[in-house]
Amino acid sequence: MNLRLFRIVAWTLAGLLTVAVVYVGLNREAGQKLVAATGGGIGGPFALTRSDGSQFTDRELAGSPYLVFFGFTHCPEVCPTTLWEASGWLKELGKDADRLKMVFVTVDPERDTSEVLAEYMTSFDPRIVALTGTPEAVEAIKKAYKVYSRKVPTEDGDYTVDHTASIYLMHGDGSFSGTIAYQESADTVLEKLRRLIANG
Ligand code: NI
Repeated sequence: MNLRLFRIVAWTLAGLLTVAVVYVGLNREAGQKLVAATGGGIGGPFALTRSDGSQFTDRELAGSPYLVFFGFTHCPEVCPTTLWEASGWLKELGKDADRLKMVFVTVDPERDTSEVLAEYMTSFDPRIVALTGTPEAVEAIKKAYKVYSRKVPTEDGDYTVDHTASIYLMHGDGSFSGTIAYQESADTVLEKLRRLIANG
């Protein structure tokens, strides 16, 4: 191969490599923008009722990071496990937990009245605020957080509720930060929570 041909081949390869690198980079950026855009759509204003019967709105969460978990008191496993684990995380965080809030929103407002929630929450950390409301108000917050839930009839004529099991991590300004998956390891969760608290 003469020198001239070698140069042409070398420059062509360098050009192709550059195009490939730029292409991958742009796609990755587009992907991150998509995640940010999707995340940006999670959360929003709401007005619900606390287990003591008083009103509770998103404004009470503003200013400090917070966790939002959706479930129902008749839940056989996911909800009690998650609330039990969350109680442990708050204890583990010690003083840092003062800068974090957590709400548990029922997806079964017909059965989960304020009184039922008050009784149920005695098993968990008292800092976790349990919320219910009219079916319309609950539908509105489910929509805001893009939460899935569906009533499933049981053999005894009653029903259970399938629901999103993730916990939402939210910044103090109400923007979405990420999620905690059901039964994620305590180490990973605490790392996420400490980072969230540090970022505010
Ligand atoms: Ni549940």
